[in-house]
Amino acid sequence: MIVYDRKTRTFFLSGKSFSCVLWVHPAGYLCNLHFGGRVGEDDLTYFDPSARGLSFSPVPPDTDSEFSLDLSCNEYGSFGQGDFRSPSVLIVRENGERASRFQYVSHKIYQGAPNLGVLPAARGGETLAVTVKDVLSDVGIVLNYTLYEDSDVLVRNAEIVNRGNSPVTLLRAYSFCLDLAAGEYGVLRLHGRHNMERTPEIAPLGHGSVKIGSARGASSHQMNPFLALVGKNAGEDGGECVGVELLYSGSWTLEAEKSQTGSVRVCGGINDLNFSWKLHTGERFVTPQVAVCYSDRGLGEMSRSFADFLRGHVLPEKYVYAPRPVLVNNWEATYFGFDREKLCALADEAAPLGIDTLVLDDGWFGKREDDFTGLGDWFVNEKKLAGGLDPVISHCKERGMKFGIWFEPEMISEDSDLYRAHPDWAIGRADVPRCKSRHQYVLDMTRGDVTDHIFARMSDILSRHEISYVKWDMNRHITEFYSSRLPAERQGEFSHRYMLGVYGLIRRLQEAFPNVFFEGCSGGGGRFDGGMLSFFPQFWTSDDTDAYERAKIQWGTSYGYPLSAMSCHVSSCPNHQTGRTTPFFTRGAVASLGATGYELDLGKLSAEEKAQVKEQIENYHEIEALILRGDLYRIADPYEENCFCVAVVSKDKSRAYVVGMRIHAMPGDFDRRIRLKGLCPEKEYTVKELGRTLRGDTLMNAGLLLPRLGDFGGWVWHLQEKS
Ligand code: DGJ
Repeated sequence: MIVYDRKTRTFFLSGKSFSCVLWVHPAGYLCNLHFGGRVGEDDLTYFDPSARGLSFSPVPPDTDSEFSLDLSCNEYGSFGQGDFRSPSVLIVRENGERASRFQYVSHKIYQGAPNLGVLPAARGGETLAVTVKDVLSDVGIVLNYTLYEDSDVLVRNAEIVNRGNSPVTLLRAYSFCLDLAAGEYGVLRLHGRHNMERTPEIAPLGHGSVKIGSARGASSHQMNPFLALVGKNAGEDGGECVGVELLYSGSWTLEAEKSQTGSVRVCGGINDLNFSWKLHTGERFVTPQVAVCYSDRGLGEMSRSFADFLRGHVLPEKYVYAPRPVLVNNWEATYFGFDREKLCALADEAAPLGIDTLVLDDGWFGKREDDFTGLGDWFVNEKKLAGGLDPVISHCKERGMKFGIWFEPEMISEDSDLYRAHPDWAIGRADVPRCKSRHQYVLDMTRGDVTDHIFARMSDILSRHEISYVKWDMNRHITEFYSSRLPAERQGEFSHRYMLGVYGLIRRLQEAFPNVFFEGCSGGGGRFDGGMLSFFPQFWTSDDTDAYERAKIQWGTSYGYPLSAMSCHVSSCPNHQTGRTTPFFTRGAVASLGATGYELDLGKLSAEEKAQVKEQIENYHEIEALILRGDLYRIADPYEENCFCVAVVSKDKSRAYVVGMRIHAMPGDFDRRIRLKGLCPEKEYTVKELGRTLRGDTLMNAGLLLPRLGDFGGWVWHLQEKS
């Protein structure tokens, strides 16, 4: 609920268990009086910092009081007027001046979310839009706050409009700024690299700042656009945390800064490295959204809030709760070495096991025999696939299976007909050598002719064949950051315009093919972010399919994202990424914690393994509702313990699905107890695998014994409330 108190000029934004209280200070500044647990609609203006001036804290010229932007909790940080913390925006005017001072102008409250054009945007809610203006430059800023009564997530962004008579240039345009009252926090971030995404790392926030981000033109494997402040006494199951995640897939920044007084600023948005944006009179710049989550029950509750929010308001409505395809992908089965016979043989093996979709990965187009060639030539390679795609699709159909296909729409190989025809379509200058990565260049997605061409090629394939699924991949990061089509003064706009081009193309394709299910991918989980998830209900979590490594990656990913967004496959052993051999059962158990599938040559499996695939898929159908809708509880941390364990509990607490892995067999660890979480203490649950019925409080407080398994031994427990 959003309430405005005219008398005190205070806004009360109240979510499920948090409140955010904004105040228009008598001097005109929009301040934050409280962000945290629920409060009543009381007058909190006693937090006015005016009375507590500090030496060296400047007072702006339009107030008689001792109010200083250096000491107040500001809703959008300005530059050059006494707030010396990280500013939210840097506006350069014609004379080169950069200072700005934002004053409240007006506000409106309305049902629903702001319209952000092609940018990803959360659905529904109630929105407060506060307009402030930079009194030094005639730039107006609309600060949007979208609130959901059943959620502890507040969505924010800023829209910047030039209302003056001359152009201005933005050198920074963050989405939000949140100043929290003095407190002690740790900063949790999810760092990584290719094959090792979203590793949680937490370190205390001392005075000064922690700045994380990506300048790679993609949200990246290296750092996820997520950050959480973890209160001093907070942990997995208790204490105050504030999480933020950007609904954005390009270069980004998030900062946490502890000020001289101990207050903490969290801010961020588009990375300002190499960023500039020219705004002529009347032009508007819309920043990406950020989801801000408050939890007073630790990181576990924060993750469940993010999961509910993303499922309820961000992931595509049509697909979010619908059963997902259980697929076999040919990548690790064949890599580039496939033909019609091999694909048909894979479908022959898959159908009787319960697999419903065959996905043809990289290599079906142009002259692509390896990763040096063919990207951009989205024509079926009939040399490899005699008769084209249709014989394979028909073969699948006859076996009751659907067909999916891989594209890497944003890329171009030097050895491709597309590049020979349009060398200038690649990012960078065509007349000087450019960087390659995976031997390929990136298409200039800021150009309408490029996105039109890719749309036409993909539409042609999708409309001429019965294709139910598309895997959208992106296998390198951006270099050069130069478009021959942009004027010199707009080259700083390149990165963000690239993302707008990508979002626009995905949107167009999804509107044209509403019945095609899209999965996202970027060399595994290199663009696993809320922006991509607004188009793709699931994302390939990582190219690392080793069950032990995957358990860790999925654990890290779960801090900010729901299980149903994680695409997880069973692959063969020795694992192609690590060389490790893990039990087949464990691989299935870990892959069941997401949108499940297979990525191996099914023909090479033993009869016993095939029987296990069948069982795994039957199990998956049984627990799919939990994966799509349930609450995740992290129980044993594989980064910290010799064990991995999580539970997914139904909203009504009548069912739970527990997956675990004993990492290394150890002598004598016979008293390790697994204490479950999230159950109803008074309910009685039957644990199918153990043939026991126990009360929820017994299962949570006394727990169950860690099964005595060998290295990487996995187990599952199905809990059902006793009727
Ligand atoms: C990277 C993806 O993550 C893999 O699953 C596979 O699609 C390859 N690209 C194909 O090039």
